[in-house]
Amino acid sequence: MSKLLRTVALLLLLLLLGNLGWTWALIPSSLGGLSARRYDSIFSFGDSFADTGNNPVVFAENDVPDVVMRSPYGCTSFGRPTGRNSDGRLIIDFMAQHLGVPLVPPSLAYNGSFRRGANFAVGSATALDAAFFPPAKFPLNISLGVQLEWFESLKPSLCHTTQECEEFFGRSLFFVGEFGVNDYHFSFPTKSVQEIMLFVPDVIGTISTAIQRLMEHGATSFVVPGTIPSGCAPPILAMFSDDDPAAYNSTTGCLEDINRLGMHHNLLLQEALEKLRGKHPNTTIIYADLFGHIMDMVESPRKFGKHRSIVNFSLSELYSVGCWQKMVVILQGLKKMCLPSAAEGQGHFTAAMTVLTYVRSRLLVCSGMAST
Ligand SMILES: *[C@@H]1O[C@H](CO)[C@@H](O)[C@H](O)[C@H]1NC(C)=O
Ligand SMILES: *[C@@H]1O[C@H](CO)[C@@H](O)[C@H](O)[C@H]1NC(C)=O
Ligand SMILES: *[C@@H]1O[C@H](CO)[C@@H](O)[C@H](O)[C@H]1NC(C)=O
Ligand SMILES: *[C@@H]1O[C@H](CO)[C@@H](O)[C@H](O)[C@H]1NC(C)=O
Ligand SMILES: *[C@@H]1O[C@H](CO)[C@@H](O)[C@H](O)[C@H]1NC(C)=O
Repeated sequence: MSKLLRTVALLLLLLLLGNLGWTWALIPSSLGGLSARRYDSIFSFGDSFADTGNNPVVFAENDVPDVVMRSPYGCTSFGRPTGRNSDGRLIIDFMAQHLGVPLVPPSLAYNGSFRRGANFAVGSATALDAAFFPPAKFPLNISLGVQLEWFESLKPSLCHTTQECEEFFGRSLFFVGEFGVNDYHFSFPTKSVQEIMLFVPDVIGTISTAIQRLMEHGATSFVVPGTIPSGCAPPILAMFSDDDPAAYNSTTGCLEDINRLGMHHNLLLQEALEKLRGKHPNTTIIYADLFGHIMDMVESPRKFGKHRSIVNFSLSELYSVGCWQKMVVILQGLKKMCLPSAAEGQGHFTAAMTVLTYVRSRLLVCSGMAST
């Protein structure tokens, strides 16, 4: 198929997906051909959006209680808590399954070979090193820089000569992110949004430098997710509630300032990725949009079988035991839910939200790969 035809086909598919609302059947198996069997492994860096089981290890080492090891986490797909911040699979799990590689094993919690991939992501991780922040329990010493060190320590077990490593990592897909959300969230108590805006370039610079460092090891394919609209996340809305109605977007109910911070981050990130593409024409760097897809769910909950925007919960409602039952009502219409998830209440994706975000980001990923 010509590139133009392929683009048109993808656009049509996107439009179709938009109109159908969503169901599990929407994961189109026919898309398989686009990404072929190009990848043998996935290496991942990030925070709770990508962590497949490292946080229980790190949190235990730091004496931090870990809610994700309780029900209803993991109740969809796995039937038990796995350390993921979701009731089910994460975007990276769907990607792994789509590419036909094993679910990416958490580097700190898995006792086996990492030749088919390794996940260095840890819930609560920041892009910037812990030393950047005021001394406190969080952030833990698990920044992007630390995760890169873990990767570099593992590398000798994967390949040896430069050529061997270039070939090995050339057949690997690298996830770098999401990073940034935690840098900003940890700063909210001590800095104004205006002050936080000033260090967004440092966060982006750190992500960009990390990608280049991975390229030096032989990485050629990257998926780099942007940040979420934190201003719509229930815990942020509850913790930073504002008496001034003007602080909120009148249509969505989200905190405008905080969402503007996310949009600024995503804009700078996309500019940085464009620069990297210019400098490294033989690499594939795909920006994955989480912001837009979540805004869509916030703006049009009914389109996704929800009767109420996720924005419209109080923190006590979300954390109360009873919230599970309420969530059942809210999430009715979504198939394959076993228990509604505490994950969503904490600003994470339920499996259901993930499917939607994944289906769309995968189209992006596939179209990005198809054009190289
Ligand atoms: C990892 O596997 C080795 C060999 O099977 C075993 O001796 C060791 O105890 C295991 N470590 C953990 C942390 O499970
Ligand atoms: C953070 O972790 C890295 C890698 O494990 C280690 O080299 C470094 O010393 C640690 N830093 C602090 C302040 O504990
Ligand atoms: C409120 O949110 C909507 C939807 O995201 C957006 O189109 C609009 O520009 C926002 N309004 C303001 C005043 O920012
Ligand atoms: C939240 O709920 C209240 C009362 O149920 C409703 O008036 C309001 O429009 C809702 N806001 C959003 C953003 O859905
Ligand atoms: C990119 O790949 C082409 C074809 O394989 C090669 O000729 C070219 O030198 C490469 N460019 C860079 C910057 O590596």
